[in-house]
Amino acid sequence: MLEAIRAMGKAFGDSHGCVVCHGGTPGAETKEEAHRRGSPAALAAVGPTKFYPDPGSMTVAHRTCGMCHPSHPYRLERACPL
Ligand code: HEC
Ligand code: HEC
Repeated sequence: MLEAIRAMGKAFGDSHGCVVCHGGTPGAETKEEAHRRGSPAALAAVGPTKFYPDPGSMTVAHRTCGMCHPSHPYRLERACPL
């Protein structure tokens, strides 16, 4: 999974791959710039549309984990309460 994330991140200017799940601005040198609203345009078309502090949130999982694991958001939404 790490290899897939790094390869995808590299395509968007972030060889560590953080942008794949968190969105934001690759190459930024300050926290404010890195976390400003928005993501690389080509990524925003399929994945994170802006900086997500918690990429696992049900509100955005289809744009993060769900890019590679389409059934993951589906299962999250249908999890039974304990
Ligand atoms: C596979 C998707 C994914 C990738 C890639 C990813 N993260 Fe995360 N990150 C998450 C998720 C999901 C959470 C929320 C975890 C939680 O709430 O327990 C998170 C949380 C965080 C947090 C908050 C931790 C806290 O305790 O509040 C930081 C900081 C962070 N990530 C930094 C990074 C950095 C830096 C990178 C790149 C090296 C990165 N992440 C790559 C999914 C990812
Ligand atoms: C860039 C694509 C990508 C993203 C984004 C991604 N994954 Fe993965 N994930 C993979 C790949 C590739 C594997 C390895 C699949 C395999 O070995 O068959 C994997 C494996 C896994 C596995 C192990 C599954 C198993 O059957 O052993 C889990 C659990 C998982 N990912 C959860 C997540 C979660 C949760 C997120 C979001 C926070 C996430 N993944 C985001 C690509 C990704």
